[in-house]
Amino acid sequence: MPLVNMAPLLQKARKGGYAVGSFSVANMEMVLGVLKAVEETKSPAIIQIAEVRLNHSPLELIGPLMVAAAKNSSVPVAVHFDHGKTAEKIRQALDIGFTSVMFDGSHLPFEENVRITAQTKKLADEYGADCEGEIGCVGGSEDGSEDIAINCTSPAQALEFYEKTGVDALAVAIGNAHGNYKQTPKLRFDILEETSNLVNVPLVLHGGTGILPEDFKKCVKLGINKINIATATFDSVEKSVRTSYGNKSINGYYDLQTAEVEGAYLNALKHIEIFGCANKA
Ligand code: 13P
Repeated sequence: MPLVNMAPLLQKARKGGYAVGSFSVANMEMVLGVLKAVEETKSPAIIQIAEVRLNHSPLELIGPLMVAAAKNSSVPVAVHFDHGKTAEKIRQALDIGFTSVMFDGSHLPFEENVRITAQTKKLADEYGADCEGEIGCVGGSEDGSEDIAINCTSPAQALEFYEKTGVDALAVAIGNAHGNYKQTPKLRFDILEETSNLVNVPLVLHGGTGILPEDFKKCVKLGINKINIATATFDSVEKSVRTSYGNKSINGYYDLQTAEVEGAYLNALKHIEIFGCANKA
């Protein structure tokens, strides 16, 4: 049950009332750690990389690795291109075999966001892949390089966006932001509930790092079926390496590699439990 499309995973999650973790990865160790967690817990999963991360992890190298790892997996894994900015990179991801792509036009005027997202959806369709769009503006930025202000989703606009683009998954802005929160976010569950009642599509929560477990669970109850986690993975990998050096359990390169895998594994395990996707593979 290897590489799969994202849409069926999310449709099943919508029916089953849980969310699928979408874990950002930057190297082989993170891929191995996430896959170890999802295989062990028999969870469906999504592994993803965002366009802004490609300076550190070139798409032509990490992309085939992600696709190969999904193909080798004993559980269904979709491979997703997160926060696509350019048609060139989105097409490259599809050529490599990603089964889902996002165009992030959340910072653009509405009609422009609709136009390019609809084009991206059409392109994804040609490859038999799926497409995610974003309406409203999630705060921060995927790699922390910008401090974009939160602009909460308008449910009526979300419906219009969905009807005009036909996306398979829709990212909403409900007070969430990328990166570590300066204070615990106060999520707009009212906006989420209204959007979910109005728009019949799996909703996506970006900026998963730092959201409280009870808030995640409430989001899932109200219609979130895909949750993006990036910073928490990177932090967990770094912490695992630091701890292992601290307690002198790293004696050579392969111990370092093991510590990295362990960090990604523990973080994925924690989120899988909260999202309710264990044993849903
Ligand atoms: P965090 O870095 O806050 O977990 O956000 C991840 C994300 O939304 C990637 O698209």
